[in-house]
Amino acid sequence: MTSIAVCPGSFDPVTLGHLDIIRRGANVFNEVFVVVLNNSAKQSLFTVEERMNLLKEVTKDMDNVKVESFDGLLVDYAESVNASAIIRGLRAVSDFEYEMQITSMNRVLNERIETFFIMTKNQYSFLSSSIVKEVAKYQGNISELVPPEVEKALIQKFT
Ligand code: PNS
Repeated sequence: MTSIAVCPGSFDPVTLGHLDIIRRGANVFNEVFVVVLNNSAKQSLFTVEERMNLLKEVTKDMDNVKVESFDGLLVDYAESVNASAIIRGLRAVSDFEYEMQITSMNRVLNERIETFFIMTKNQYSFLSSSIVKEVAKYQGNISELVPPEVEKALIQKFT
């Protein structure tokens, strides 16, 4: 049986923390669909197309990873690609409540799809797209936090 998972997020922009979760997910599942979705609570810096292009660039060495975008419910996207799993990264206890809420909601919407959590590596436990944008905005060094392609894109955005 082919195991297909989706790895959803805003990815505004993708960080080394995201990339680590995608890579580890791709080591477990046969196919991983990284999907850029809208988070109605967040205002984005990059367009969906820009976020997808950056994701495609930084995942190009992973043969079983595909990057797409979707406007709608995550579980509907998961159904459309025949996925049986959702992968989410978990950083600290502070993530837990939010993740529990969306996992429970997704289960109510579609009981067939199981959510799996991958614990973030220690060195990325503080990392988020928001914190990276904040540092980049004030010309701080982000080279240890994002892939070089993303660093370049952020510098361009804030110049
Ligand atoms: O990277 P993020 O912002 O934490 O990702 C959150 C995301 C995009 C996965 C979540 O907001 C989402 O699933 N949005 C799509 C709409 C949806 O399915 N909502 C119901 C579950 S909360």
